[in-house]
Amino acid sequence: MDLVDKTIVITGANSGIGLETARALAASGARIVMACRDAARAEAARADIAATTDAARLEVVPLDLAALGSVRRCAADLVARHPRIDILINNAGLFPFRKRLTADGFEMQFGVNHLGHFLLTQSLMPSLQAAGAPRVINVASMMHHLGKLDFDSFRGEKPYKPIRAYGQSKLCNVLFTRELARRHQDDGLLTWSLHPGPVGTNIMGRSLAARTLYRLVGAYMSPRRGARTSVWLAGADGIEATSGSYYDEYCKVKPGSKLSQDMALAARLWETSERLVAG
Ligand SMILES: NC(=O)c1ccc[n+]([C@@H]2O[C@H](COP(=O)([O-])OP(=O)(O)OC[C@H]3O[C@@H](n4cnc5c(N)ncnc54)[C@H](OP(=O)(O)O)[C@@H]3O)[C@@H](O)[C@H]2O)c1
Repeated sequence: MDLVDKTIVITGANSGIGLETARALAASGARIVMACRDAARAEAARADIAATTDAARLEVVPLDLAALGSVRRCAADLVARHPRIDILINNAGLFPFRKRLTADGFEMQFGVNHLGHFLLTQSLMPSLQAAGAPRVINVASMMHHLGKLDFDSFRGEKPYKPIRAYGQSKLCNVLFTRELARRHQDDGLLTWSLHPGPVGTNIMGRSLAARTLYRLVGAYMSPRRGARTSVWLAGADGIEATSGSYYDEYCKVKPGSKLSQDMALAARLWETSERLVAG
């Protein structure tokens, strides 16, 4: 698919997989909106990409997925400035070792990795639907296989186990994708989730120790390689029939975990998420 002049919004585009996704898609001639929480890091990333591409096609917008008010402001601003958004890549994510809560009192991984992106996607719908055949790409993880949904844990009510919270949030990404595809099967919107591979990034933290440890435990892929499936899903032709599916780091459809295929669970997560973002 020709991406020239397509408008692509990427969350967490200043670091790791998101940064390399933005760089590759900018090189294909698309207009890139980098939705990031830290203005200085976002500007440094924008300047880095602009050194090799057309700076006029790069835009930074503030977005803190850990605050639903920030998500609403970002979406309203984007809808006003971009009446058509062709592709949304919900990429941002985090993995805190200690329990943290979002501004609205949600467990941080559930709040950022899932709920913030849920609200962002819903709020951008007017501009997405104006694109005719918009694409929503959700960066999940193979760690969703470890995930279960505990509906009584979303506000951090339960003792915190980082991997359990991460698995739950990434299972949310895969279920959200399946339900989004089901709800939009007749209006042209296409959506996929994906595992980017084991990628050496800042996901475990920015310190040298955290980054080194993550590489030592097997995150051998470069961020550029890790961006491959996201970039491919943004532009690939002939994959419309797979909307809702989960892709691996080799751009192949995988079934995902058994729980991730449970459409009753997907519907329950969707309805719960709607209630939670409504306040
Ligand atoms: N790396 C892997 O091996 C791996 C494997 C499977 C899935 N993934 C997924 O890949 C995605 C990208 O992660 P990465 O590995 O590239 O990690 P990364 O280098 O840490 O990048 C994560 C991005 O998310 C942003 N972010 C975190 N909290 C945010 C918030 N509250 N609001 C807005 N943005 C926020 C970060 O912003 P700051 O720079 O300001 O912190 C950063 O831009 C995540 O969804 C992750 O779960 C990664």
